[in-house]
Amino acid sequence: MSGKKIAIIGGGNLGSAIAKGLLKSGFSKAADITVTKRNTSTLKDLKEQGVHIESDNAKAISEADVVVVALKPYNVKEVLSELRASFDAKKQILISVVTGVFLDDLEKITLPGLPIFRAMPNTAIAIQESITCICGRNATEEQNQYVKEMFDQLGVSVNIDEKLMDAATVLGACGIAYALRFIRASIQGGIEIGFDARTANLIVAQTVKGAAELLIKEKRHPEEEIDKVTTPKGCTIAGLNEMEHQGFSSSLIKGITASMDKIIKG
Ligand SMILES: NC(=O)c1ccc[n+]([C@@H]2O[C@H](COP(=O)([O-])OP(=O)(O)OC[C@H]3O[C@@H](n4cnc5c(N)ncnc54)[C@H](OP(=O)(O)O)[C@@H]3O)[C@@H](O)[C@H]2O)c1
Repeated sequence: MSGKKIAIIGGGNLGSAIAKGLLKSGFSKAADITVTKRNTSTLKDLKEQGVHIESDNAKAISEADVVVVALKPYNVKEVLSELRASFDAKKQILISVVTGVFLDDLEKITLPGLPIFRAMPNTAIAIQESITCICGRNATEEQNQYVKEMFDQLGVSVNIDEKLMDAATVLGACGIAYALRFIRASIQGGIEIGFDARTANLIVAQTVKGAAELLIKEKRHPEEEIDKVTTPKGCTIAGLNEMEHQGFSSSLIKGITASMDKIIKG
């Protein structure tokens, strides 16, 4: 248990999921977490678990060791600039999970020298299965380690350079949607070859989970595992090659680069 007091500013989807994950993993106790939002009635669940619920951001920040900002990008400047006086660069760290707000902007809006991190999780953070990409500045080694440990409780985390943060958004956060669309299409194929939707869903989801676990747990390369299932003249290679003739890998790569273009050009 970290023992640090954590204030989560913006208790929406992501802010609440972070609070729930920190509680579930035992990283923080409920009494050490404060979650803020203007309409606090949606945070009953957390309140019942003993989490402090606040609409006073200044109070939450001034009592915290760690401030997690989970506001919408268009709210950040307006909300944080009014809270500048509540931060303390000597004893606090700020972690922003907000898409597209740079470390430079965050430091300008808050305090010079404040240890600041950007973290890009995905929605699987709600079940502690996120991949979270992290970058930071002004932090000590101990603070770097603390933030990594915090997000390791919520899945797996990796430190990256800030210039890769948009790419992390595409591959990790948008990636959930790409993976789910693959699953959805496979379910539709499964129904066409005879399964009811519920059984097809189970078979596909567990198959995808198994494939991912082979890479994560056994550290295998995808092609090495594909070779094991592609019997010469068999049905797997026939299906795979047909998918490639139809542009399977190419469409995925083009989709990823289209998402990246959209982030960069708006
Ligand atoms: N969802 C994802 O997969 C994902 C992944 C990575 C990063 N992100 C980033 O995470 C951020 C939050 O996303 P989200 O999906 O959680 O959005 P969300 O559900 O809309 O949460 C934002 C919350 O901020 C609260 N808020 C607004 N003004 C406030 C204020 N002045 N003080 C305190 N709270 C305030 C809102 O509640 P009230 O209106 O009641 O105040 C709302 O619940 C975004 O910047 C997004 O880019 C999301």
